[in-house]
Amino acid sequence: MMVDTLIREFDIERDYAQALALWERSGPGVHVSSLSDSRAEIAKKLARDADLFLVAEHGGAVAGTVIGGFDGRRGMVYHLAVEARLRRLGIGQALMAELERRLRRKGCRKYYLLVGPNLQAAIAFYEQFGFASMPFLIMGKEIAEEA
Ligand SMILES: CC(C)(COP(=O)(O)OP(=O)(O)OC[C@H]1O[C@@H](n2cnc3c(N)ncnc32)[C@H](O)[C@@H]1OP(=O)(O)O)[C@@H](O)C(=O)NCCC(=O)NCCS
Repeated sequence: MMVDTLIREFDIERDYAQALALWERSGPGVHVSSLSDSRAEIAKKLARDADLFLVAEHGGAVAGTVIGGFDGRRGMVYHLAVEARLRRLGIGQALMAELERRLRRKGCRKYYLLVGPNLQAAIAFYEQFGFASMPFLIMGKEIAEEA
């Protein structure tokens, strides 16, 4: 990495506000969800696999994030973002490399991510990291809370 950056696990007390602000200014590549990115939902995520939610710290502040997941079969990547003024310095690469190391250690052999088809920078980044696009339609459904 070309800047002095520490890759560490996310700490909700210390990092939540800064991470949310980073996601909000990260453009269309990071979809900020009022449900999934609420403090309560992030806490739920951390209760499951806190070791896959990483931040890059630079100058005492959050400069980048990535949220990983592993369900026992496949891994997932969400909210990879690097502060605009610190891009192209290897921070995104360092976050993904550490996430991949941790996924490998858990036995994960394949992982996925969602990226908009017009997000050239993100696609170029993921391709150089070894990802390839797959010919599937993504389908999703929200589950309402129990009454
Ligand atoms: C995608 C993103 C996380 C990359 O972070 P980064 O720290 O700038 O990436 P790195 O410096 O580690 O880049 C590693 C390599 O990826 C490729 N790459 C990164 N950004 C690129 C760009 N804008 N155009 C072309 N290639 C790019 C290059 O090969 C780069 O190596 P190089 O700089 O030596 O040429 C960052 O651009 C970002 O936060 N974008 C906005 C949020 C977003 O879209 N996230 C993806 C969600 S799907």
